[in-house]
Amino acid sequence: MARLAERYVCQDCGTVTPKWSGRCEACQAWNTIVEENAPPQPPKGLSAGRGRVFEFVPLDGKSEALVRLTTGISELDRVTGEGLVPASALLVGGDPGIGKSTLLLQAVAGLAAAGVDCAYISGEEAVDQVRLRARRLGLGQAPVRLAAATSVRDILSSLGQTPPRVVVIDSIQTMFLDNLESAPGTVSQVRASAQELIRFAKQNGTTMLLVGHVTKEGQIAGPRVLEHMVDTVLYFEGERGHQFRILRAVKNRFGPSDEIGVFEMTDRGLAEVANPSALFLSERERPVSGTAVFAGIEGTRPVLVEIQALVATSSLATPRRAVVGWDSGRLAMVMAVLDARCGLALGGRDIYLNVAGGLRISEPGADLAVAAALVSALTGVPVPEGAVVFGEIGLSGEIRAVSQADLRLKEAAKLGFSRALAPAVRQRRQATLELDELTQLADLVRRFEAGGEGAQSWADDG
Ligand code: TYD
Ligand code: MG
Repeated sequence: MARLAERYVCQDCGTVTPKWSGRCEACQAWNTIVEENAPPQPPKGLSAGRGRVFEFVPLDGKSEALVRLTTGISELDRVTGEGLVPASALLVGGDPGIGKSTLLLQAVAGLAAAGVDCAYISGEEAVDQVRLRARRLGLGQAPVRLAAATSVRDILSSLGQTPPRVVVIDSIQTMFLDNLESAPGTVSQVRASAQELIRFAKQNGTTMLLVGHVTKEGQIAGPRVLEHMVDTVLYFEGERGHQFRILRAVKNRFGPSDEIGVFEMTDRGLAEVANPSALFLSERERPVSGTAVFAGIEGTRPVLVEIQALVATSSLATPRRAVVGWDSGRLAMVMAVLDARCGLALGGRDIYLNVAGGLRISEPGADLAVAAALVSALTGVPVPEGAVVFGEIGLSGEIRAVSQADLRLKEAAKLGFSRALAPAVRQRRQATLELDELTQLADLVRRFEAGGEGAQSWADDG
């Protein structure tokens, strides 16, 4: 038998090198290169034989309408694009303990109770553990086919008998193919196992739900290649100390990406949160300095969240910058603009910024709300009661328009807000609430300063 070629594979990016080294040349990551045996080579060259000739079809043809399986968990259905698509593969990524197994067990139990043939295969927990969880969630009676297995060969043979319509594989990092030498969880195993499972899904019209663990760097372990192989990638995120969980579509071949579903963790599993704004704002009482309510858009849905800032005198040579839920680079930019264009020096102070409720915001439209929270924290003057803030800040200190302003205003009005600090809104359809138009960041700062040090309210407020 020919000796299996040895090769070295980066566990982060999947790059193959013939030699070991401490650092991957391609992605520059340290200590990620691991020895693995090369998978068996496919027959070389195209000379082996002629391919089958296929027919081309017009772009404008009749296709069968996509039949979707709705899980009954409407937040999950929203993120998948109104239901699971047969013969497709979804990857659900997230930190350990965030609730992936719970969510998927609830989903298949719901489907099974509605008469859909579902299988749940756990490579991490024993059958009894899964049963125990199902019972605790009140799903013990659901007719889900359950198994604890890690061999992909065994799984495919067992599923092949009567292919279920939905299969959960929890998790892809525990699966292995016995014809590969490398350990479960390595790039080659993860990739090859996923390939086989996805092939099964496409051939049998099954929806394959793969659970993927996330590395410290926040990527699905067993690299990016996995994200390219599946049709849909969902990330399950949230702060550990919070009970809110957000399911976010980062890729979706069958629906919109960037859509989010919001859940609340309870002792009976994940509960849907149909109105996330009310939830993220629920702890607000009287306005205090250092907070601003941002009217954001997540996917197609407006979401109001509170942004909190604290500015403190620093005793350190390099002041602390702690940011939770937002991009720290973006914070540095907002601070630089406040400094250079408005003369507010924050450089020597400790700055803490927090998005309440554990939500992560990536929209540049939050710039103005962050600036408002910072200036409010610095001056001690609260943002006026009943005001929401949104707008993007440019480097010259101008405030730029953001998308879907109408939708943001409407949501704010619905939740009882009475005014908005925002850039001019073109083609405003409804006069839902009073718009305090800002064109320059300096306009915002002036409003706080006019309030004066220690003043209880906004300058033009009363
Ligand atoms: P689990 O679903 O096992 O997380 P993951 O599969 O992502 O690692 O959930 C982790 C723990 O949290 C588990 O002990 C159950 C508990 N939990 C609840 O009690 N309620 C909930 O709503 C969720 C999501 C989890
Ligand atoms: Mg799990």
